[in-house]
Amino acid sequence: MRDLFAKCGEEGGYFSALRMQRDRYFTLPILEGMPGPHMVFQGRKVIQWAINNYLGLVGRPELIETAREAAARWGVGAPMGSRFMTGNTERHTELERRLARFSAKESAILFNYGYLGVIGTITSMIGKDDVIVIDKFSHASMMDAAFATRQFIPFRHNDMVSLERALRRASRDREGGVLVVVEGVYGMTGDLADLPGIIELKKHYGARLYVDDAHGFGVMGKGGGGIGFHYGLQDEIDIYFGTFAKAFAAIGGFSSADDTVVEYIRYNARTQIFAKSLPMVVVEVLIKAIDIVESEPKLVEKLWENARKLQNGLRELGFDLGNTASPVTPVYIPAADLETAIRFIHKMRDEKGIFVSGVMYPVVPKGVLLCRMIPTAAHTEEDIEITLKAFREVRDEMGLW
Ligand SMILES: Cc1ncc(COP(=O)(O)O)c(C=O)c1O
Repeated sequence: MRDLFAKCGEEGGYFSALRMQRDRYFTLPILEGMPGPHMVFQGRKVIQWAINNYLGLVGRPELIETAREAAARWGVGAPMGSRFMTGNTERHTELERRLARFSAKESAILFNYGYLGVIGTITSMIGKDDVIVIDKFSHASMMDAAFATRQFIPFRHNDMVSLERALRRASRDREGGVLVVVEGVYGMTGDLADLPGIIELKKHYGARLYVDDAHGFGVMGKGGGGIGFHYGLQDEIDIYFGTFAKAFAAIGGFSSADDTVVEYIRYNARTQIFAKSLPMVVVEVLIKAIDIVESEPKLVEKLWENARKLQNGLRELGFDLGNTASPVTPVYIPAADLETAIRFIHKMRDEKGIFVSGVMYPVVPKGVLLCRMIPTAAHTEEDIEITLKAFREVRDEMGLW
């Protein structure tokens, strides 16, 4: 018999070596200053490429002013209680109307964290006879939702043959429904869900489609409407999901769908029914953020201009960016070698003043190692030039690319 806590002093679990060293460099680093392209890390000014502030909205004066006014009026606690009981307001409902319109769906429901939104939405839809068919590269929140239901079949990442096999299996002696679960833009690798292929198959097998567009909402398609707009297939997404923690620079998330579906989620998503309502400050800031995104299409254009410049520059230098087709910019480490990744990140941060993050298992599958960069609308041409120069120097110093 062992004490429950014995494991805490031993190797094991996620990021074991880093935990044992009490690392604060690769994990839990402290970046100082307003989140944006220019921050301070360990006393040094850095150009920061690791935060999903896609449209550069963090720190926008209008949003800060809106938050200030809302906090002066409501404090940070209001409204109190769950939406279900005492925490509902006309402004929460208004924000849901705006999100439904933005994502071209009948209705939307708010969640306090994207993570909780994913879990609440998916688990509420899966009854005892239903099955989830899920892309293996899906974000942890989606996998956790699938694990919670225990009724899921994974398929190989973006592989339509594997998806069809999973759908066929799910259809054998089928009594309930099938929910295909994918990301719109894969957050670590930047590639896009093959929505045309997925939609053809889900129709053929009478399944429904849930798309987590955490990295596509505010980023992809005209006006940043999302991955469905990118493909011209928004109507075919049965449940669309977005988070506010990335392009919209706040916190929370939403699902949007047909009105009856949203109403069902509203009454069945445990992560929202049993949680306090999103604070007024956040609700007001989000309504303002949607105003900004809708009235300033140049933000999405600037994001893409910067993403193209950065990605073209890195590719010209010989770096492997895989098959990203979004602003998410993964720089793959040759042979997925951990020592190389550590040296590379140290050189970038400590010698060149470029803050990039390393990504390893369990964030990506075992055997994959990458530095993920997120260009934003707030980065300048000079930031990109300085960064590319640093990459060229480090490439030459390390001789690996
Ligand atoms: C695909 C995906 N879904 C959900 C989430 C969770 O969102 P949040 O950070 O708003 O909780 C993330 C965040 O990283 C994500 O990338």
